Amino acid sequence: MNQREKNIKLFIEYNGNTQTIETFAGEYRNLMVLIKDQLWVEGIGECGGMARCGTCLVELLNADENLAVIDSKEAAVIRRSVNTPATLRLACQILVDETVNGLQVKVLEP
Ligand code: FES
Repeated sequence: MNQREKNIKLFIEYNGNTQTIETFAGEYRNLMVLIKDQLWVEGIGECGGMARCGTCLVELLNADENLAVIDSKEAAVIRRSVNTPATLRLACQILVDETVNGLQVKVLEP
């Protein structure tokens, strides 16, 4: 059986520690699912990735413009959660594919 090459590398900071996670497109539905599975963040993903709860808030530390795109529902949840910049996203709205390769992410407290 062929194992798919893990060609996507992410650097995820949580509780002051940064972990390097390697994956491939399709292994995880979105970044929230990856964080929940790999880092065991308690309380993340309450709405199951529907962009409603805001528990999957992350800061993108080195994102390019492709990841700055936010739909209106996501923007409303972020505004409700905090009063801050465009580097914040809901992890459940970020697909894990080649566009996130090399991304540095800081997980905020759910
Ligand atoms: S999991 Fe609820 S907003 Fe992302």
